[in-house]
Amino acid sequence: MFNAKLAVIGGTGIYQAEMLENVKKVDMETRYGKANLLVGTCQGREVVFLTRHGKGHSVPPHLINYRANIQALKSIGVEKIIATAAVGSLNEEMAPRDFVLIDQFLDFTKTRKNTFFEGRFRGVAHVDVTEPYCLGIRKFLYEKAEELGIKVHQGGCYVCTEGPRFETTAEIKMFKQWGGDVVGMTSVPEVVLAREAGICYATVCMVTNYAAGISPHLLTHAEVLDVTQQMNKNMSRLLMSALAEIPLEKECACAEGVTGTP
Ligand code: HPA
Repeated sequence: MFNAKLAVIGGTGIYQAEMLENVKKVDMETRYGKANLLVGTCQGREVVFLTRHGKGHSVPPHLINYRANIQALKSIGVEKIIATAAVGSLNEEMAPRDFVLIDQFLDFTKTRKNTFFEGRFRGVAHVDVTEPYCLGIRKFLYEKAEELGIKVHQGGCYVCTEGPRFETTAEIKMFKQWGGDVVGMTSVPEVVLAREAGICYATVCMVTNYAAGISPHLLTHAEVLDVTQQMNKNMSRLLMSALAEIPLEKECACAEGVTGTP
């Protein structure tokens, strides 16, 4: 059996486990459904790679089985997850092709299974998300990016929409007034489930476009893909050195966030 403590969840544009060697396909069955993982090594460390949108970007954001994915990573022994996400920007200082290490979210999702605690198997829990993205991983990634000469913003508020449509100009105006910096469709409930599972989790966002009504042109998935491809090389450099060097032991309080009923 595998015992990987680190995982990468690749979002839009990040489909290859190119940072790993000796890659094996592992299909896992969980209480919540199936998860398709790739397990390999990076500098001798066992690492899991999971493509959030499935093979060939075939699963839209609102239909991703977030619970199966996080449960599978938990069962394989994962303690730290580095996720990637393509985002639109509401903040003029966060330009297309910039990286952002988000530190907060605003949740506008509507239809997703957003907890492991539904009363039946595991009781009820109210998880603390004061600091939803792991401080330890964020600090490590920020310092690593600086060392590698990759421009990254430390902190930013991610607005999670239900999708799969892009936003209206009015929605973006409102999100901006409410403190949003970037907008995407996948961070929630992924980050929340990781916290419920006691796994440290952080996201490296790739700004692919200015958001609706700020961008001078209409938004397309082709543009998002094109810009992620342009950012792919630096993302791989950052991920590879993080996977090789990030401390395996926890330096934070992420695993203490769940207090539930028995
Ligand atoms: N909105 C929502 N999700 C996105 C965007 C956007 O503008 N760009 C990339 N993912």
